[in-house]
Amino acid sequence: MKKNLLESKITIFIFDSGLGGVTILKYIKEVFFNVNFIYLLDNKYFPYGNKSQHFILQRLIQILKKISYYYNISLAIIACNTASVSSFPQIKKYFNFPILGIFPVINLAIKNTQNKIIGLLATDTTLKNLQIKKKIKFFSKNYTIETLSSKKLVFLAEKKLLGYKLILNEIKKIFVSWFNLTKFPDTIILGCTHFPLIINELKVILPKNIKFVDSKKDIIINLINLEKKIKFVSNQKQNIVFYTQQNSYIKKTKLYFLNNGFNSFQEIKI
Ligand code: DGL
Repeated sequence: MKKNLLESKITIFIFDSGLGGVTILKYIKEVFFNVNFIYLLDNKYFPYGNKSQHFILQRLIQILKKISYYYNISLAIIACNTASVSSFPQIKKYFNFPILGIFPVINLAIKNTQNKIIGLLATDTTLKNLQIKKKIKFFSKNYTIETLSSKKLVFLAEKKLLGYKLILNEIKKIFVSWFNLTKFPDTIILGCTHFPLIINELKVILPKNIKFVDSKKDIIINLINLEKKIKFVSNQKQNIVFYTQQNSYIKKTKLYFLNNGFNSFQEIKI
């Protein structure tokens, strides 16, 4: 049964470099009602996966400042692992509404693996992050954690959402280093919010019976725990999408959002 996060209607601001945040939006919609969404895709700087942490933090501050100046944000979700690892916890001190991040669920993978070989699929910037490196080092005493980053996979995930047909072999080639391992990971962390968009393709090209884990549960639990910290209720009626630059995919992107519960799709200059 769907839950009410608060008695009153709230506005959740969802941020991603691109369309990966849609996977988080879907999870939230499955569980909660009485929520309005503002979604911002920073397509001007997409992809984030090879940007510096410093750049990403500064960009996020700029974006959140602009959006929260015009809208009463009840809470913000940085629906991007790359942006979350680059901006947490510093980002929180700039704003008076709660901010949630999305992080690779290494602990969940540890609980699920049987062969003790875990695959972590994420972007370069996420894998270079000090906290993530520390975590990998810590668990590497008892588990093997194979990491893989691919910018191409992020682009392919966006294409899939926009209705393009993907070539499975093209995806398979991305995993060549894992296919060369003596044992394939039995558990794969989708450490980028784009990757749940292509889970069906991954299930076809990768060995059978792999367990895929992502931030689905975490985000719902964190939202419920946050309930009491939400100060601002919403006067907003529309679900709005902002993008930061025109490009050749914008028409299709607009169509996707308008077909999926959003009423307004606008460019924002940031
Ligand atoms: N969706 C972002 C993430 O979760 C990455 C995409 C990008 O490289 O911009 O890491």
